[in-house]
Amino acid sequence: MASKMTLLASVLVVMLMHLQSLEAQQPNLVKGLSWKYYESSCPKLESIIRKQLEKVIKKDVGLAAALLRMHFHDCFVQGCDGSVLLDGSASGPVDSEKTAPPNLSLRGFDVIEDLRRRVHKECGAGSVSCADITAIVARDSIVLTGGPTYSVPLGRRDGLSFATRDATLANLPSPFVPTDNLLRTLAAKNFDATDAVALSGAHTIGIAHCSSFTRRLYPTQDTTLDKTFATTLKGVCPAPNTNASTFMDLRSPNVFDNKYFVDLMNKQGLLTSDQDLYTDKRTRNIVTSFAVNQTLFFEKFVNVMIKMGQMEVLTGTQGEVRNKCSVQNSNDLLISSVVEGDNMDSVESF
Ligand code: HEM
Repeated sequence: MASKMTLLASVLVVMLMHLQSLEAQQPNLVKGLSWKYYESSCPKLESIIRKQLEKVIKKDVGLAAALLRMHFHDCFVQGCDGSVLLDGSASGPVDSEKTAPPNLSLRGFDVIEDLRRRVHKECGAGSVSCADITAIVARDSIVLTGGPTYSVPLGRRDGLSFATRDATLANLPSPFVPTDNLLRTLAAKNFDATDAVALSGAHTIGIAHCSSFTRRLYPTQDTTLDKTFATTLKGVCPAPNTNASTFMDLRSPNVFDNKYFVDLMNKQGLLTSDQDLYTDKRTRNIVTSFAVNQTLFFEKFVNVMIKMGQMEVLTGTQGEVRNKCSVQNSNDLLISSVVEGDNMDSVESF
Protein backbone atom coordinates (compact mmCIF):
# COMPACT_ATOMS: atom_id res chain seq x y z
CA MET A 1 0.00 0.00 0.00
CA ALA A 2 2.78 2.36 1.01
CA SER A 3 4.63 1.72 -2.26
CA LYS A 4 1.40 2.38 -4.21
CA MET A 5 1.04 5.73 -2.43
CA THR A 6 4.67 6.60 -3.22
CA LEU A 7 4.10 5.70 -6.88
CA LEU A 8 0.95 7.82 -7.02
CA ALA A 9 2.77 10.71 -5.39
CA SER A 10 5.64 10.50 -7.88
CA VAL A 11 3.18 10.36 -10.82
CA LEU A 12 1.47 13.46 -9.45
CA VAL A 13 4.78 15.27 -9.04
CA VAL A 14 5.79 14.40 -12.61
CA MET A 15 2.39 15.58 -13.92
CA LEU A 16 2.71 18.84 -11.99
CA MET A 17 6.22 19.42 -13.34
CA HIS A 18 4.96 18.74 -16.84
CA LEU A 19 2.12 21.23 -16.41
CA GLN A 20 4.52 23.82 -15.04
CA SER A 21 6.89 23.33 -17.96
CA LEU A 22 3.97 23.69 -20.38
CA GLU A 23 3.00 26.90 -18.62
CA ALA A 24 6.58 28.11 -18.77
CA GLN A 25 6.56 27.46 -22.51
CA GLN A 26 3.55 29.74 -23.01
CA PRO A 27 5.20 32.81 -24.48
CA ASN A 28 4.61 36.23 -23.00
CA LEU A 29 1.78 38.21 -24.46
CA VAL A 30 2.03 41.85 -25.36
CA LYS A 31 -0.27 44.11 -23.39
CA GLY A 32 -3.83 44.10 -24.73
CA LEU A 33 -3.74 40.64 -26.29
CA SER A 34 -5.24 37.59 -24.65
CA TRP A 35 -5.65 33.86 -25.27
CA LYS A 36 -9.40 34.13 -24.62
CA TYR A 37 -10.23 37.51 -26.10
CA TYR A 38 -13.41 36.42 -27.90
CA GLU A 39 -14.46 33.74 -25.43
CA SER A 40 -17.72 35.47 -24.57
CA SER A 41 -18.15 37.93 -27.48
CA CYS A 42 -17.64 35.40 -30.27
CA PRO A 43 -17.27 31.87 -28.90
CA LYS A 44 -17.71 30.23 -32.30
CA LEU A 45 -15.02 32.35 -34.00
CA GLU A 46 -12.37 29.68 -34.34
CA SER A 47 -14.78 26.89 -35.31
CA ILE A 48 -16.37 29.05 -38.04
CA ILE A 49 -12.95 29.75 -39.54
CA ARG A 50 -11.69 26.18 -39.23
CA LYS A 51 -14.81 24.63 -40.76
CA GLN A 52 -14.83 26.94 -43.76
CA LEU A 53 -11.06 26.78 -44.32
CA GLU A 54 -11.21 22.99 -44.35
CA LYS A 55 -13.49 23.25 -47.38
CA VAL A 56 -11.43 25.97 -49.07
CA ILE A 57 -8.12 24.15 -48.66
CA LYS A 58 -9.60 20.80 -49.67
CA LYS A 59 -10.59 22.44 -52.95
CA ASP A 60 -7.30 24.30 -53.47
CA VAL A 61 -4.48 23.25 -51.20
CA GLY A 62 -2.24 26.01 -52.61
CA LEU A 63 -4.30 28.60 -50.77
CA ALA A 64 -2.93 27.37 -47.43
CA ALA A 65 0.52 28.67 -48.39
CA ALA A 66 -0.89 31.89 -49.74
CA LEU A 67 -2.81 32.55 -46.53
CA LEU A 68 0.16 31.77 -44.31
CA ARG A 69 2.26 34.23 -46.29
CA MET A 70 -0.49 36.86 -45.95
CA HIS A 71 -0.06 36.97 -42.15
CA PHE A 72 3.73 37.29 -42.49
CA HIS A 73 3.41 40.17 -44.96
CA ASP A 74 0.86 41.81 -42.68
CA CYS A 75 3.00 41.58 -39.56
CA PHE A 76 6.36 42.62 -41.03
CA VAL A 77 5.00 45.86 -42.47
CA GLN A 78 3.76 48.25 -39.73
CA GLY A 79 2.71 45.34 -37.51
CA CYS A 80 -0.12 42.78 -37.62
CA ASP A 81 -2.84 45.36 -38.25
CA GLY A 82 -4.53 43.99 -41.36
CA SER A 83 -3.02 46.86 -43.39
CA VAL A 84 -1.97 44.50 -46.18
CA LEU A 85 -5.67 43.84 -46.82
CA LEU A 86 -6.50 47.50 -47.50
CA ASP A 87 -7.18 48.62 -51.05
CA GLY A 88 -5.50 51.78 -52.26
CA SER A 89 -7.34 55.02 -52.88
CA ALA A 90 -10.53 54.83 -54.91
CA SER A 91 -9.24 57.73 -56.99
CA GLY A 92 -6.76 55.56 -58.85
CA PRO A 93 -3.56 53.56 -58.58
CA VAL A 94 -1.55 54.84 -55.66
CA ASP A 95 1.57 54.16 -53.78
CA SER A 96 0.09 51.42 -51.60
CA GLU A 97 1.10 48.44 -49.50
CA LYS A 98 -1.14 46.02 -51.41
CA THR A 99 0.33 47.01 -54.78
CA ALA A 100 3.97 47.01 -53.66
CA PRO A 101 5.94 44.37 -55.65
CA PRO A 102 6.25 41.68 -52.94
CA ASN A 103 2.50 41.82 -52.32
CA LEU A 104 1.47 41.49 -55.97
CA SER A 105 1.82 37.71 -55.70
CA LEU A 106 -0.30 37.47 -52.54
CA ARG A 107 -3.50 35.45 -52.96
CA GLY A 108 -6.51 34.68 -50.80
CA PHE A 109 -7.86 38.18 -50.02
CA ASP A 110 -11.32 36.91 -51.00
CA VAL A 111 -11.03 33.99 -48.56
CA ILE A 112 -10.27 36.36 -45.67
CA GLU A 113 -13.16 38.65 -46.64
CA ASP A 114 -15.55 35.71 -46.90
CA LEU A 115 -14.52 34.54 -43.42
CA ARG A 116 -14.93 38.07 -42.08
CA ARG A 117 -18.48 38.09 -43.45
CA ARG A 118 -19.29 34.72 -41.85
CA VAL A 119 -17.82 35.74 -38.49
CA HIS A 120 -19.58 39.12 -38.42
CA LYS A 121 -22.85 37.45 -39.40
CA GLU A 122 -22.56 35.23 -36.33
CA CYS A 123 -21.09 37.69 -33.84
CA GLY A 124 -22.06 41.10 -35.20
CA ALA A 125 -20.36 43.92 -37.08
CA GLY A 126 -17.32 45.24 -35.26
CA SER A 127 -16.89 42.01 -33.30
CA VAL A 128 -13.65 40.56 -34.67
CA SER A 129 -10.81 42.37 -36.43
CA CYS A 130 -9.48 41.43 -39.86
CA ALA A 131 -5.98 41.26 -38.33
CA ASP A 132 -7.13 38.58 -35.85
CA ILE A 133 -8.95 36.64 -38.57
CA THR A 134 -5.73 36.69 -40.65
CA ALA A 135 -3.71 35.36 -37.69
CA ILE A 136 -6.15 32.49 -37.03
CA VAL A 137 -6.27 31.68 -40.74
CA ALA A 138 -2.46 31.42 -40.85
CA ARG A 139 -2.45 29.00 -37.91
CA ASP A 140 -5.22 26.91 -39.49
CA SER A 141 -3.40 26.82 -42.83
CA ILE A 142 -0.42 25.32 -41.06
CA VAL A 143 -2.55 22.75 -39.23
CA LEU A 144 -4.61 21.78 -42.29
CA THR A 145 -1.45 20.96 -44.25
CA GLY A 146 -0.06 18.75 -41.49
CA GLY A 147 1.86 21.23 -39.37
CA PRO A 148 1.78 21.93 -35.63
CA THR A 149 -1.09 23.62 -33.84
CA TYR A 150 -0.90 26.41 -31.27
CA SER A 151 -3.13 28.95 -29.56
CA VAL A 152 -3.28 32.34 -31.24
CA PRO A 153 -3.13 35.40 -28.98
CA LEU A 154 -6.09 37.60 -29.93
CA GLY A 155 -7.31 41.17 -29.52
CA ARG A 156 -5.54 42.89 -32.42
CA ARG A 157 -7.27 45.93 -33.90
CA ASP A 158 -7.17 46.94 -37.55
CA GLY A 159 -4.96 49.77 -38.73
CA LEU A 160 -6.39 52.96 -40.18
CA SER A 161 -3.81 53.29 -42.93
CA PHE A 162 -1.65 51.20 -45.21
CA ALA A 163 2.10 51.47 -45.71
CA THR A 164 3.78 53.05 -48.72
CA ARG A 165 5.43 50.99 -51.45
CA ASP A 166 8.87 51.97 -50.14
CA ALA A 167 8.05 51.07 -46.54
CA THR A 168 6.72 47.71 -47.72
CA LEU A 169 9.88 47.01 -49.70
CA ALA A 170 12.06 48.11 -46.80
CA ASN A 171 10.36 45.85 -44.28
CA LEU A 172 9.93 42.58 -46.18
CA PRO A 173 13.15 40.58 -46.46
CA SER A 174 14.52 40.13 -49.98
CA PRO A 175 14.79 36.61 -51.47
CA PHE A 176 17.93 37.65 -53.37
CA VAL A 177 20.20 38.28 -50.42
CA PRO A 178 22.60 36.01 -48.51
CA THR A 179 22.04 34.98 -44.91
CA ASP A 180 24.29 37.72 -43.59
CA ASN A 181 21.87 40.31 -44.90
CA LEU A 182 18.78 38.33 -43.84
CA LEU A 183 20.06 37.95 -40.27
CA ARG A 184 20.67 41.67 -40.01
CA THR A 185 17.20 42.52 -41.34
CA LEU A 186 15.59 40.10 -38.92
CA ALA A 187 17.76 41.11 -35.96
CA ALA A 188 16.45 44.64 -36.42
CA LYS A 189 13.01 43.17 -35.77
CA ASN A 190 14.22 41.24 -32.75
CA PHE A 191 14.50 37.79 -34.36
CA ASP A 192 17.65 35.70 -33.82
CA ALA A 193 19.29 33.12 -36.12
CA THR A 194 17.07 30.25 -34.90
CA ASP A 195 14.00 32.42 -35.49
CA ALA A 196 15.26 33.26 -38.99
CA VAL A 197 15.73 29.60 -39.93
CA ALA A 198 12.40 28.57 -38.37
CA LEU A 199 10.53 31.38 -40.16
CA SER A 200 12.10 30.39 -43.48
CA GLY A 201 10.76 26.88 -42.82
CA ALA A 202 7.34 28.23 -43.85
CA HIS A 203 8.65 27.63 -47.37
CA THR A 204 7.89 23.95 -46.82
CA ILE A 205 4.60 24.75 -48.58
CA GLY A 206 3.74 26.91 -51.55
CA ILE A 207 5.17 28.24 -54.75
CA ALA A 208 7.51 30.90 -56.10
CA HIS A 209 7.50 32.61 -59.47
CA CYS A 210 10.48 32.56 -61.85
CA SER A 211 11.30 36.20 -61.09
CA SER A 212 12.01 35.18 -57.48
CA PHE A 213 14.82 32.77 -58.37
CA THR A 214 16.00 33.04 -62.02
CA ARG A 215 18.93 35.24 -60.93
CA ARG A 216 20.34 31.93 -59.70
CA LEU A 217 20.10 30.45 -63.21
CA TYR A 218 20.99 33.29 -65.62
CA PRO A 219 23.40 34.53 -66.81
CA THR A 220 25.50 32.17 -64.71
CA GLN A 221 24.37 29.25 -62.61
CA ASP A 222 24.62 29.51 -58.82
CA THR A 223 27.14 26.92 -57.64
CA THR A 224 25.13 26.20 -54.51
CA LEU A 225 22.30 24.92 -56.73
CA ASP A 226 22.15 21.19 -57.44
CA LYS A 227 22.80 20.67 -61.18
CA THR A 228 19.82 18.40 -61.89
CA PHE A 229 17.54 20.70 -59.92
CA ALA A 230 18.89 23.67 -61.91
CA THR A 231 18.06 21.89 -65.18
CA THR A 232 14.51 21.28 -63.99
CA LEU A 233 14.17 24.94 -63.00
CA LYS A 234 15.45 26.04 -66.42
CA GLY A 235 12.68 23.92 -67.92
CA VAL A 236 10.11 25.81 -65.82
CA CYS A 237 11.72 29.19 -66.55
CA PRO A 238 13.40 29.07 -70.00
CA ALA A 239 14.05 32.83 -69.69
CA PRO A 240 14.59 35.05 -66.63
CA ASN A 241 11.23 36.77 -66.94
CA THR A 242 9.06 33.72 -67.73
CA ASN A 243 5.71 34.01 -65.98
CA ALA A 244 5.60 30.55 -64.39
CA SER A 245 5.96 29.16 -60.91
CA THR A 246 7.24 26.09 -59.14
CA PHE A 247 7.03 24.48 -55.71
CA MET A 248 9.32 25.76 -52.96
CA ASP A 249 9.77 22.31 -51.38
CA LEU A 250 10.19 19.70 -54.07
CA ARG A 251 9.92 16.74 -51.67
CA SER A 252 6.46 17.45 -50.21
CA PRO A 253 5.18 20.74 -51.65
CA ASN A 254 1.78 20.71 -50.00
CA VAL A 255 2.67 19.23 -46.65
CA PHE A 256 3.84 21.31 -43.72
CA ASP A 257 6.82 19.22 -42.58
CA ASN A 258 10.61 19.54 -42.20
CA LYS A 259 11.48 18.42 -45.76
CA TYR A 260 12.37 21.99 -46.76
CA PHE A 261 15.46 21.62 -44.58
CA VAL A 262 16.33 18.31 -46.26
CA ASP A 263 16.08 20.18 -49.57
CA LEU A 264 18.58 22.76 -48.33
CA MET A 265 21.03 20.03 -47.30
CA ASN A 266 20.78 18.69 -50.87
CA LYS A 267 21.32 22.07 -52.59
CA GLN A 268 17.67 22.07 -53.62
CA GLY A 269 16.53 25.24 -51.87
CA LEU A 270 14.70 27.50 -54.34
CA LEU A 271 15.55 31.03 -53.22
CA THR A 272 18.99 32.45 -52.48
CA SER A 273 17.73 33.40 -49.02
CA ASP A 274 16.72 29.75 -48.46
CA GLN A 275 19.81 27.96 -49.76
CA ASP A 276 22.30 30.30 -48.14
CA LEU A 277 21.02 29.26 -44.70
CA TYR A 278 22.92 26.02 -45.29
CA THR A 279 26.04 27.79 -46.55
CA ASP A 280 26.40 30.29 -43.73
CA LYS A 281 28.10 28.74 -40.72
CA ARG A 282 25.87 30.60 -38.26
CA THR A 283 22.73 28.87 -39.55
CA ARG A 284 24.00 25.60 -41.06
CA ASN A 285 23.71 23.62 -37.83
CA ILE A 286 20.23 24.95 -37.18
CA VAL A 287 19.16 23.79 -40.65
CA THR A 288 20.62 20.33 -39.97
CA SER A 289 18.97 20.11 -36.56
CA PHE A 290 15.56 20.85 -38.12
CA ALA A 291 16.19 18.42 -41.00
CA VAL A 292 16.80 15.54 -38.61
CA ASN A 293 14.23 16.51 -35.98
CA GLN A 294 10.81 17.66 -37.13
CA THR A 295 9.55 18.01 -33.56
CA LEU A 296 12.29 20.53 -32.85
CA PHE A 297 11.40 22.49 -36.01
CA PHE A 298 7.71 22.51 -35.08
CA GLU A 299 8.49 23.72 -31.56
CA LYS A 300 10.69 26.60 -32.78
CA PHE A 301 8.24 27.44 -35.57
CA VAL A 302 5.29 27.72 -33.18
CA ASN A 303 7.32 29.98 -30.88
CA VAL A 304 8.35 32.29 -33.67
CA MET A 305 4.85 32.42 -35.19
CA ILE A 306 3.41 33.52 -31.85
CA LYS A 307 6.17 36.11 -31.60
CA MET A 308 5.67 37.34 -35.17
CA GLY A 309 1.91 37.51 -34.63
CA GLN A 310 2.41 40.09 -31.89
CA MET A 311 4.60 42.51 -33.84
CA GLU A 312 3.55 46.15 -33.27
CA VAL A 313 -0.08 45.21 -32.71
CA LEU A 314 -2.79 47.79 -32.15
CA THR A 315 -4.94 47.02 -29.10
CA GLY A 316 -7.59 48.57 -26.85
CA THR A 317 -8.94 51.72 -28.44
CA GLN A 318 -6.21 52.00 -31.08
CA GLY A 319 -7.23 51.58 -34.72
CA GLU A 320 -10.65 50.07 -35.37
CA VAL A 321 -12.43 46.82 -36.19
CA ARG A 322 -13.11 47.04 -39.89
CA ASN A 323 -16.51 46.23 -41.34
CA LYS A 324 -14.85 45.17 -44.55
CA CYS A 325 -11.23 44.05 -44.58
CA SER A 326 -10.23 45.99 -47.70
CA VAL A 327 -11.65 49.36 -46.61
CA GLN A 328 -11.23 51.61 -43.57
CA ASN A 329 -14.61 52.17 -41.90
CA SER A 330 -14.60 55.91 -42.67
CA ASN A 331 -14.05 55.23 -46.39
CA ASP A 332 -16.60 52.43 -46.30
CA LEU A 333 -19.28 54.83 -45.06
CA LEU A 334 -18.32 57.31 -47.76
CA ILE A 335 -18.45 54.71 -50.53
CA SER A 336 -21.77 53.23 -49.42
CA SER A 337 -23.40 56.65 -49.25
CA VAL A 338 -22.11 57.55 -52.72
CA VAL A 339 -22.76 54.23 -54.47
CA GLU A 340 -26.30 53.42 -53.48
CA GLY A 341 -27.15 49.72 -53.47
CA ASP A 342 -23.54 48.71 -53.98
CA ASN A 343 -21.24 47.44 -51.24
CA MET A 344 -23.91 45.40 -49.44
CA ASP A 345 -21.41 44.14 -46.87
CA SER A 346 -20.95 47.50 -45.29
CA VAL A 347 -24.62 48.39 -45.58
CA GLU A 348 -25.58 45.19 -43.78
CA SER A 349 -23.13 45.90 -40.99
CA PHE A 350 -24.50 49.25 -39.91
C1 HEM B 1 12.80 34.98 -44.22
C2 HEM B 1 12.61 35.74 -45.24
C3 HEM B 1 11.64 35.45 -46.34
C4 HEM B 1 11.83 35.71 -47.65
C5 HEM B 1 13.04 36.37 -48.28
C6 HEM B 1 10.67 35.25 -48.36
C7 HEM B 1 10.47 35.37 -49.70
C8 HEM B 1 9.47 34.73 -50.40
C9 HEM B 1 9.32 34.76 -51.83
C10 HEM B 1 10.20 35.53 -52.80
C11 HEM B 1 8.28 33.96 -52.15
C12 HEM B 1 7.77 33.63 -53.54
C13 HEM B 1 6.90 34.72 -54.10
C14 HEM B 1 6.55 34.43 -55.53
O1 HEM B 1 7.49 34.36 -56.34
O2 HEM B 1 5.37 34.27 -55.85
C15 HEM B 1 7.75 33.44 -50.93
C16 HEM B 1 6.69 32.59 -50.84
C17 HEM B 1 6.16 32.15 -49.65
N1 HEM B 1 6.53 32.58 -48.39
FE1 HEM B 1 8.18 33.59 -47.93
N2 HEM B 1 9.80 34.70 -47.46
C18 HEM B 1 10.35 34.80 -46.21
C19 HEM B 1 9.75 34.43 -45.02
C20 HEM B 1 8.52 33.87 -44.93
C21 HEM B 1 7.77 33.70 -43.70
C22 HEM B 1 8.23 34.20 -42.34
C23 HEM B 1 6.62 33.07 -44.01
C24 HEM B 1 5.49 32.66 -43.12
C25 HEM B 1 5.58 32.54 -41.83
C26 HEM B 1 6.65 32.83 -45.44
C27 HEM B 1 5.71 32.13 -46.13
C28 HEM B 1 5.73 31.94 -47.50
C29 HEM B 1 4.85 31.03 -48.18
C30 HEM B 1 3.88 30.07 -47.52
C31 HEM B 1 5.10 31.18 -49.54
C32 HEM B 1 4.36 30.50 -50.70
C33 HEM B 1 3.22 31.42 -51.11
C34 HEM B 1 2.31 30.86 -52.18
O3 HEM B 1 2.34 29.68 -52.50
O4 HEM B 1 1.50 31.66 -52.70
N3 HEM B 1 7.79 33.36 -45.96
N4 HEM B 1 8.47 33.94 -49.87
